[in-house]
Amino acid sequence: MAEQDIEALTVEQAQAELARLAAEIARHDARYHTDDAPEISDGDYDALRRRNAAIEAAHPDLIREDSPSHRVGAPVADGFAKVSHAVQMLSLGNAFEPEDVQDFADRVRKFLSIAADAPLAFTAEPKIDGLALSLRYENGRLVQAATRGDGRTGENVTENARTIGDIPHELAGDDVPEVFEARGEVYMSHEDFAALNARMAETGRVFANPRNAAAGSLRQLDSEITKTRPLRFFAYGWGDVTAVPAKTQTGMIAAMGRWGLTVNPRMARCASVEDMLAYHAGLGADRAGLGYDIDGVVYKVDGLDLQARLGFRSREPRWAIAHKFAAEVATTVLEEIDIQVGRTGSLTPVAKLRPVTVGGVVVSNATLHNEDYIRGIGGKGEPIREGRDLRAGDTVQVYRAGDVIPKVVDVDLSKRPEDSAPFVFPDVCPECGSDAVREEGEAVRRCVGGLICPAQAVERLKHFVSRNAADIDGLGAKQAETFWADGWIKQAADIYTLEERFGGDALQALKSKEGWGAKSAEKLFRAIDARRVLPLDRFLFALGIRHVGEGTAALLARTYTSWDALRAAMEAMAAGDAPAREALLSVDGVGEALADAMAAFFGEGHNRESLDALLSHVRVEDAEPAAQEGALAGKTLVITGTLERISRSEAKARAEAAGAKVSGSVSAKTDYLLAGEKAGSKLKKAEELGVTILTEADWEALIGG
Ligand code: IVH
Repeated sequence: MAEQDIEALTVEQAQAELARLAAEIARHDARYHTDDAPEISDGDYDALRRRNAAIEAAHPDLIREDSPSHRVGAPVADGFAKVSHAVQMLSLGNAFEPEDVQDFADRVRKFLSIAADAPLAFTAEPKIDGLALSLRYENGRLVQAATRGDGRTGENVTENARTIGDIPHELAGDDVPEVFEARGEVYMSHEDFAALNARMAETGRVFANPRNAAAGSLRQLDSEITKTRPLRFFAYGWGDVTAVPAKTQTGMIAAMGRWGLTVNPRMARCASVEDMLAYHAGLGADRAGLGYDIDGVVYKVDGLDLQARLGFRSREPRWAIAHKFAAEVATTVLEEIDIQVGRTGSLTPVAKLRPVTVGGVVVSNATLHNEDYIRGIGGKGEPIREGRDLRAGDTVQVYRAGDVIPKVVDVDLSKRPEDSAPFVFPDVCPECGSDAVREEGEAVRRCVGGLICPAQAVERLKHFVSRNAADIDGLGAKQAETFWADGWIKQAADIYTLEERFGGDALQALKSKEGWGAKSAEKLFRAIDARRVLPLDRFLFALGIRHVGEGTAALLARTYTSWDALRAAMEAMAAGDAPAREALLSVDGVGEALADAMAAFFGEGHNRESLDALLSHVRVEDAEPAAQEGALAGKTLVITGTLERISRSEAKARAEAAGAKVSGSVSAKTDYLLAGEKAGSKLKKAEELGVTILTEADWEALIGG
């Protein structure tokens, strides 16, 4: 059938064509994904989808509920269907030192009553740093793939797993059991990870490491996306099975390999703890060249009869253990020291490193904390790195443990270039040129530019949308950055006018951006609507005022209970009203620094304007006042000396249960001092301040037993 020009389509024709395309694409999806028997080439299929998308773009009001753009490959789902694992997916205990491995072997022998000199074989294999997947084969055909989830219930990712080349859709062999759940790890190679990130760089969204990339790719609701992600799989175990066609772990892995599953070529059999440790050392030496991330070695008892006898304790098998690699230190060159400006104007130095692999992950940035850290001075003024400073051009040691941000731990002075000069920390903001000042007693230097500083503005926006603040689904840090850079959202209030400002064009405009489709754009607008009412504590936290963390925001919300009351009090304080400041300072947990920060924020005219703009779209919900229940509600108690009848932890727990706050030091805010034997300076201070002093007996009477 000759296709008509999209522009020439009447509304009725467009509507009919969209209906036809929806049905046709759905049929091809089913042929491809469910029956594994596509009828048309990928190119023809893509052409159908492109035509559908083009008609939708020309007639956004005609987009169907069941539009193929909403649903690619797999049926529409807001999340994945749950799968309960017939056999629980376990985790592993850890060993770090050779002694831990010896202990593991000894425990196994003891449990099984095997003499120290009797033979006992283990397998050793790489511990792949990816995510576990369980593949269910029935009569040799892949029928379900599920993630580990909490070990008992995972997510159904069958469509996505089918796109992974290493995962056969069918197992071949005459000894394949009727039901066989193969378990293993999905991962991404270093090379594929680098290429994927290079592609993703244009969208501004890159993955931090191959494991995140693998997890993010496998857990895509759209299997078409997963298909474009180069995932791999190693099988290393099994779950629910109707038969076990071997007597050993080694035999089972060999069988799985024969059937067509990919198994790790580095698996070995060890006859002793010495063998196991030698394997660990050998794999450690080869680690960087493997091409994928591993974080240790897994040892398993080879005999399956022994595995069955050993069983598991809580969620870990007694027959296996993970022997982790030590956190790795790598040597590289510190090329430059960059300064990043945070939400409150803090200037944070970041080391730009010549890229180096540390623990299987390529590292090119590391935090340098603050200017003292660069100079070799610690938080208490003590020397660090024996006082050696860090300079551009230096050869440095970089350390990374697990997911922790890499750190520069030391510098090799013998390799310092002769023309190097000490780093001069800027005293103006690199983003806006305002002064950057370091206040007395502070390690951090701050830009005083406030609202005129673009770096602070974007950081504030990112903070506003973050999870514990306004928490707008689909509007994370990266999206906030892009919207800000495009000038779409300059401040929090702009989020709420996004849809109305662009009208119907908003959808079109958004769709032209990488990563956005009609459905995600619509979802974003609805997610924004869902946050037009915010609880007082979240709202206050979202404003990003210095020293106002979540706990402080909650405290202030409980104290002032309404936005109007809080704002009136803060503005009065900012205007110099002493009683307002006193009232704030009388709140337990509030100090001078917070009062100063609140006064500075509410005293600034631009901030008040931004607040007004925001409040014309957002309603702030009142908070519950602080609980007044319990015999000691609202009271502050300090415990000192040796208690005879009850432990100090129990006394503390009981006081808190009765509504009291237990503090470590006596002040004018203390209501009671519970004084045991040999009470010293705290008792003296409490007496001076006229605090009520309780003996253990008084306290028991007060608390009721
Ligand atoms: S065996 C019953 N072998 O590590 C034991 N696990 O920390 C189940 N992993 O959840 C696991 N490589 O995701 C085993 N060669 C390997 C592994 C491996 C990676 C993961 C797996 C497991 C986690 C436990």
